[in-house]
Amino acid sequence: MEYQKRTVTCGQLAAADVGKTVVLNGWVHRKRDHGGISFINLRDRYGITQVVVDADAPAALQAAAAELKSEYCIAVAGTVRGRPESMVNPDMATGAIEVAADSLTILSKCAPLPFQIDERTDAKEDTRLTYRYLDLRSGAMQKRIRLRHEAAFAVREYMVGQGFYEIETPTFIRSTPEGARDYLVPSRLYPGKFYALPQSPQLYKQILMVSGFDKYFQLARCYRDEDARGDRQPEFTQIDIEMSFVKRDDVLAMCEGLMRHVFKKTLGVELPAQFVRIPYDESIDLYGSDKPDLRFGMAMQDFAPYVEASGFQAFKEALAAGGKVKALVVPGKADYSRKQIEELEAQARIYKAKGMAWMKVAQAADGSGIALEGGASKFFAANAAAIAAGLGAKPGDLILMIADAKAKVACVSLGAVRSKLGRDLGLLDPKVFKFAWIVDFPMFEYNEDEQRWEAAHHMFTMPQEKYHDTLESDPGAVKGDLYDLVLNGFEIASGSIRIHDPDLQKRIFKIVGFSEEEAQRKFGFLVEAFKYGPPPHGGIAPGFDRLVMLMAGETSITEVIAFPKNTFAVSPMDQCPNEVDEKQLKEIHIRIVPKEEKTN
Ligand code: AMO
Repeated sequence: MEYQKRTVTCGQLAAADVGKTVVLNGWVHRKRDHGGISFINLRDRYGITQVVVDADAPAALQAAAAELKSEYCIAVAGTVRGRPESMVNPDMATGAIEVAADSLTILSKCAPLPFQIDERTDAKEDTRLTYRYLDLRSGAMQKRIRLRHEAAFAVREYMVGQGFYEIETPTFIRSTPEGARDYLVPSRLYPGKFYALPQSPQLYKQILMVSGFDKYFQLARCYRDEDARGDRQPEFTQIDIEMSFVKRDDVLAMCEGLMRHVFKKTLGVELPAQFVRIPYDESIDLYGSDKPDLRFGMAMQDFAPYVEASGFQAFKEALAAGGKVKALVVPGKADYSRKQIEELEAQARIYKAKGMAWMKVAQAADGSGIALEGGASKFFAANAAAIAAGLGAKPGDLILMIADAKAKVACVSLGAVRSKLGRDLGLLDPKVFKFAWIVDFPMFEYNEDEQRWEAAHHMFTMPQEKYHDTLESDPGAVKGDLYDLVLNGFEIASGSIRIHDPDLQKRIFKIVGFSEEEAQRKFGFLVEAFKYGPPPHGGIAPGFDRLVMLMAGETSITEVIAFPKNTFAVSPMDQCPNEVDEKQLKEIHIRIVPKEEKTN
């Protein structure tokens, strides 16, 4: 079909264009009829322009307008004219003008819509994903995809400006253990053999350092078969970075520069020159999390000093067993009901707290000072003034306390209560960006089930130098030269200085229970490469989807990915994963074992 190609976009015309003849192409966003006049809001990627078919327009034009429905794709030729004063819309970029149509062609029709294309849709996620092409037409999705594009461009601009090369690494790689499950690709040519999709380009980027590309980055696709969460996708993108001849602070400073550039270029937001650094132990102690949300305070406090003088047995026992008693002051919430407090306690129980004690701070009835009321207050009443002063609590505040023989359980469970309060009390402003580095992570974690030490990050992380002599004798105390970047309660990046000394690497393999043969079998190529003069190196990988999600003020990464999977790792639009033909299976030497056969 011959059609009139656009001469302008739908976001472009303004008062200065009045009198011009133009052609617009776009979709019918809304249509209203008023006393024989049709008003058509025509939309494209650039904006919305009001098109008018006047009451005295030729019959053919009026008939074409009458036929229009939402989301029809059309071409309109017409003349730009100023809107009458009373019709000017200051909220619309093109609100001062309208286009009086001379001709109108329907380029394609639209079936009845499964949901209205609006700024904020209330359609269910699976419906949105089934008709993702329609969902992506909404102004909100268009804005977020544009933000993602601009952020990616800003990343490349900054990294290239700093002398980094963007180097692609393969997406068919050897399956190597990296924390999550691998997605596997069967080989047609080599029956019984598989490629794995990379969980990250970790080993390749380290090998690039051996090759002398001392500043590497890549917007890298990563694949992980792990349980779904709002901030996780099976397939996601990292800003993968590696540098040679650097120490930890060089990597942190580079990453701060990158974040500052991306936020300034895309959002116009000025970030601080340096982000706060919080040692892991302190982060757990103050916020009960290694990804604290610092948009609000309410740091947890140590309640131990007030336990001895009290008669609260459970608290005393926790301390005697080497545990902790943590307290949280919730300003002005002494009016919380029992039910509200129970809801907070339920949150703590998810993280293994055995219970949560509470008391309210009040003015003493005789006006002499502070009183503690309700809950556990009877145990602490005698010491009310000292407790309130010590915790910085005022009349009207609520004090929450959790004790546990396992210090981490006390911290993490009360930390979960802190996070819930942040949400409940509306303290999480999506326009505020609070970054922090979490440093000095433990190098190893003990796996109780398997009764062995495992690497907290990955096996190539350098233990901090002061622990090199005591790696084997006290693995639990070793801190790694590794760091996470946290933004608004999400881990957005993770990295480390790597081991480049093969002997040290062997010691780490041994501590995490990797025999020499196993290490050789799984990482032999890396161990081999490291025989040839590897440079000292380190790196980091910000999760790009998570970063853009937070920049967009969202809490689900599907909002910033054009074609994401749903929470069941399924794409409802193209229905994948799907069965394949018997012939395809044969070619790759795969036979499907029916479920019953498998369980027998
Ligand atoms: P890590 O596994 O911590 O480190 O990942 C780095 C960052 O990637 C993001 N991320 C994810 N985003 C969306 N969906 C997922 N399933 C997902 N998993 C991780 C997070 C995370 O902070 N190779 C190392 C990095 C390094 O040491 O340089 C790595 O991959 O934002």
